Amino acid sequence: MTSTSKATQSNRLFNVDRAPERSPDPDGLQACRRQIRQGMERCRQATLALFQSINHEAFCLQVHPDFSPIGWHLGHIAYTEALWLLEHAAGLVPQFPEYRRLFAADTLPKAERVYLPDFAEVQTYLQTVRTAVFNYLETAPLEQQERLWRWLLQHESQHGETIALVMELMKERSGVRSQESGVRSHLLAYFPASSASPAPTASSALHSPLPTPMLCIPAGSFECGNDSIEALDNERPVHRVYVETFWIDRTPVTCEQYQTFMTADGYRTSRWWSAEGWEWLQMAQVTQPLYWSNSRDRAMHPVCGVNWYEADAYARFVGKRLPTEAEWEKAASWNSIARQRQTYPWGEAPNEDDCNCNHAVRQTTPVDAYPSGSSPFGCYDMLGNVWEWTASWFDRYAGFEAYPYRGYSEAYFDGHHRVLKGGSWATQPSSLRCAFRNWYHPHVREILAGFRCVSDADQDGVSVSDAC
Ligand code: AVJ
Ligand code: FE
Repeated sequence: MTSTSKATQSNRLFNVDRAPERSPDPDGLQACRRQIRQGMERCRQATLALFQSINHEAFCLQVHPDFSPIGWHLGHIAYTEALWLLEHAAGLVPQFPEYRRLFAADTLPKAERVYLPDFAEVQTYLQTVRTAVFNYLETAPLEQQERLWRWLLQHESQHGETIALVMELMKERSGVRSQESGVRSHLLAYFPASSASPAPTASSALHSPLPTPMLCIPAGSFECGNDSIEALDNERPVHRVYVETFWIDRTPVTCEQYQTFMTADGYRTSRWWSAEGWEWLQMAQVTQPLYWSNSRDRAMHPVCGVNWYEADAYARFVGKRLPTEAEWEKAASWNSIARQRQTYPWGEAPNEDDCNCNHAVRQTTPVDAYPSGSSPFGCYDMLGNVWEWTASWFDRYAGFEAYPYRGYSEAYFDGHHRVLKGGSWATQPSSLRCAFRNWYHPHVREILAGFRCVSDADQDGVSVSDAC
């Protein structure tokens, strides 16, 4: 790599490196360097672990038109790291210009991302970029760049989750779970028995419902969003939001609960569905969630593999509705006694043991398996397990500034994407927090998503003013 004078130019172009983000205290900077390095190493380990038993066919397979092959995501991780840290920040000339067309996000359509170099070659690409990146990290001006480095860490972690969900889709198609489709059963060979740690079981006996299924969140304002250094552009700035009194399900909707909707012919009853949702259903002709099992040991697991239309229809069926993003975030993060927002439902410390995340068990867990992770208001499973659909469209907060490029979030403020909150079992720690905002089109069911419901009054008919 050769140094050029591009650095200052591109910094201006791409809106990064403006004001110092932390005081240039040398000890603090060294600690920051170590922390970033460790975060990137851990994330990379998790990313590569996903590919342990993948052969070239699975590496290149486009299993669904909305998603790229897992091998493309892997190359795109290296490409993005090189683009932002080596080209834009360090001012180096690209070492692999031939990969731009293949691995940039704005060049090839998804269907043309299937002609990929093999895993070993992509791994070499990742490793070569990483060596140069860590070399640069030794002297990089982190007082101006910390935000960019933290953005890149989250970029990889988010693609890691997409890789994991595409693999779930491959398993589904190959008949590991459902016998119905014989399609691509030869892919089965690439998914050996899981070696993940055993899933925790429900803390209550199966089929005994949790006490207080809905919790009252009293009217008042709270602090929404996130201003910390790792906050993505769409989370900023922190702002106060007033929320009326509402009741929220203590846990995500379980398979057992969702079964009542299916048994009551919910998928054939138009009155539960929005007009758009009904239209989608007529096209899609589905009768159950994508990742469905009615086995007894899944009864207390959250329903997973539903799109926004299905979540919305179920909510109407039980006389409830989906939470707005503000309602969800208040229930997850607001500490009404301390009058402060918390980064996590359980407090400020990142703790992977308080929820089902980071591939620890590689599947969903019962919704009451992590009582220690409950929020100050008492909600379970706000982080991890499954993403949760909200009623809100993905949109800017007042004062939004795009970072590091318009296409990251701003391009999706188009009134066609719904917000999801909370992360799934495949979400890596750097992207797991109450303020994090995910977004997808409402018809997408291939993500690891479920939902919980809210209501303006308690379901037992108690009016909120009496009981709250
Ligand atoms: C936030 C998960 C919807 O994968 O499309 C990755 C994240 N943006 N590279 C996506 C993202 C650019 C994004 N999601
Ligand atoms: Fe990306």
